[in-house]
Amino acid sequence: MTVVSVPSSAACALLRPMFEDVTVLVWDMQDDPPEGFERIEFMVPGHWPSENAHCWFTAMPELRVVQLLSAGVDHWIGHVPSGVTLCSARGVHGRATAELALAGLLAVLRDIPTYATQQRMGVWERHSGQGLDTKRILVIGAGDIGGRFASACELFGAETTLVARRPREGVRDITELATLVPDHEVVMLAVPMTASTVGLINAEFLAAMPDGSVLVNVARGPIVDTDALVAELFTRRLRAFLDVMDPEPLPANHPLWSAPNLLLTPHVGGFTGRHDPTGWHARAEDLVTAQLRRYLNGRELMNVVAIESGY
Ligand SMILES: NC(=O)c1ccc[n+]([C@@H]2O[C@H](COP(=O)([O-])OP(=O)(O)OC[C@H]3O[C@@H](n4cnc5c(N)ncnc54)[C@H](OP(=O)(O)O)[C@@H]3O)[C@@H](O)[C@H]2O)c1
Repeated sequence: MTVVSVPSSAACALLRPMFEDVTVLVWDMQDDPPEGFERIEFMVPGHWPSENAHCWFTAMPELRVVQLLSAGVDHWIGHVPSGVTLCSARGVHGRATAELALAGLLAVLRDIPTYATQQRMGVWERHSGQGLDTKRILVIGAGDIGGRFASACELFGAETTLVARRPREGVRDITELATLVPDHEVVMLAVPMTASTVGLINAEFLAAMPDGSVLVNVARGPIVDTDALVAELFTRRLRAFLDVMDPEPLPANHPLWSAPNLLLTPHVGGFTGRHDPTGWHARAEDLVTAQLRRYLNGRELMNVVAIESGY
């Protein structure tokens, strides 16, 4: 019997009838482990495991696969024992997250936050906004989210430049970044948080962005130097949409709460509801069942994280 753990009783009820030779335990890694956890071979932790949840790994000699429900794997790198395959949920949250990045960018360009304030005050006052047509957009990260975001922007006439770690046709090399930044009016971040991306958007990078340009971050907060961004926002030289920030949750009185030219959402990129057909649950369920089937049949797993590159 292969022992599998999933984070909710709903997921357990879904898997049980599908897999006869599998024992399914419920454990989200927030609470203490259930009886028999030492025999878990294939585990799906919850979204918010406790701070030191990975300490349990030392008592799990049978563990072979950790299948995450998030596309970001930064919390797990360095904690999953060697010999255990770490898999991301790449693809599960990409559409919703690219969509939110587009919504945030359009809201900033069309100044929707000002109109929302005016609406509450009963004020009918018009000023011109900006559109995507002919906007030059630099998309850093040419994977699931970056690719979808770029395609959507192009539909509205934007000119996109994609940048990634491994250059290829239609994708520029990250080493060209410094020369590309001044030519773009929007910079969108869709890279994983790794040793080479933390602090990538620093004061020097922000200073190279043209006046009035927009930074969109739906990737991870620490990729941007928060203090440097706050300084730029308070001069009103740059604008930004942030779904992720550093720190999270944003503490009361943090300068980002009152920064001008900023629209922020509390890390909800992939967070669409269970009963929403576009929601992430159905895709997560499909991914977990497909991966478990592959594992039981000795087939290659999808979304395997390359520990050395951090994603
Ligand atoms: N806001 C949210 O709720 C939310 C939801 C989902 C994901 N995310 C975040 O978004 C990130 C991206 O997700 P995804 O699904 O699009 O990932 P993905 O499909 O794996 O794409 C990642 C892209 O980043 C590029 N990259 C990696 N390291 C780089 C570096 N040092 N310099 C330049 N490019 C680099 C990769 O380059 P190559 O193509 O050369 O490999 C790839 O194009 C996730 O890691 C996660 O942290 C946030």
